[in-house]
Amino acid sequence: MFQTLSLFPPDAILSISTAFQKDTSPTKVDLGVGVYKDENGKTPVPRAVRRAEQEILAEQKTKAYLSPLGNAGFNTQVAELTFGNNLLGRKTDLVLAQAPGGSGALRLGAELIKAANPTVGIHVSDPTWANHIPLLGNAGLKVDTYPYYSANKHRVDLDRMLGALDGLSAGSVVLLHACCHNPTGQDLDATQWALVAEVLARRSLVPFMDMAYQGLGEDLDRDGNSLRIIAKAVPEMLVAVSCSKNFGLYRERTGLLAVLSGNAEQATVNTSQLGRLARTLWSMPPDHGAAIVDRVLSQAELRQEWFSELTHMANRINSLRNVLADKLTLSTNKDFSWIKTQRGMFSRLPLSNEQVVCLREQHHIYMAPDGRINIAGVTPNNATYVAESVAMVCQ
Ligand SMILES: Cc1ncc(COP(=O)(O)O)c(C=O)c1O
Repeated sequence: MFQTLSLFPPDAILSISTAFQKDTSPTKVDLGVGVYKDENGKTPVPRAVRRAEQEILAEQKTKAYLSPLGNAGFNTQVAELTFGNNLLGRKTDLVLAQAPGGSGALRLGAELIKAANPTVGIHVSDPTWANHIPLLGNAGLKVDTYPYYSANKHRVDLDRMLGALDGLSAGSVVLLHACCHNPTGQDLDATQWALVAEVLARRSLVPFMDMAYQGLGEDLDRDGNSLRIIAKAVPEMLVAVSCSKNFGLYRERTGLLAVLSGNAEQATVNTSQLGRLARTLWSMPPDHGAAIVDRVLSQAELRQEWFSELTHMANRINSLRNVLADKLTLSTNKDFSWIKTQRGMFSRLPLSNEQVVCLREQHHIYMAPDGRINIAGVTPNNATYVAESVAMVCQ
């Protein structure tokens, strides 16, 4: 049976990480995989997460199943964090389902869309996170792109984006990065979000928002502004939330799918459908990460500690942006100040694939093939080396 299968090429970003680990150079720099790194280049477990985990391990009396929709406490806590305490006044039509990470939430959302309308198209930004297209496409959705980023101008190409959305047929689904756009770091501002919301509403499009980095851009509140602007404008919306980055829970697979269903009756139907779909995908989502998040968010002291740690992460990334932008400008004699205005873990350097390979092979600096760099991989110690190496390959 298996002879019909052929070798699948390794994931481009994950293989960069493997190559980095094998590299024995003392000057090597990992700007590849999108995980937060501290000043020592380590991906830490936040103290609040560690404390919550220890308390749970000491107290937990059973590991019996919860339900296909997961941990209700986690679902509500994360929904309030994402939408605000009053859940946008949409408590009656909001449906929540815990999922294995943001990826699981995206997949569950795609399955719900497919069940509701098997022929509908989903439109993702060009460029987008490398896993969006396979993840959504493998659920059976037809995936297309809309213009998003102008690589020459280092900003969102808003006119082309709005024009493309305006041309979509009613009912089409539009995937939007709620904040910290991956791979460009280029977000919409509030005025631009309002223009997008207007087109979505006028053309009866369905937004599917991917919230994978809340708190790592500006702060929790400002990073959630996009959701509030869009949700006010439309009756139906899906949101995939990941707790991988902001809680440092990557391997615990902790995420949430939230669906604004339009009205309470539809919410009841959608709840039953999400339960059915989750049951056929993973039956029950993993609880450990969700139990930790629920505890961190519901206990004032842990919540405050986590909030301080998250603020530290965001501040560190934003100050590294400034350091790197200045050093790149100095080394290359070109303007890199646009890196300072971007947000989140990523920026995309204007490099060809050959230049990316040269940085890897000759300078031991690892990044995604499209020039995407993880800003958190920069440190005050390696920033000059990175900037001078980029200048050398650009000569
Ligand atoms: C834009 C975006 N969405 C979703 C995810 C999925 O995150 P998770 O690890 O929680 O599945 C990622 C992870 O890198 C991402 O960058």
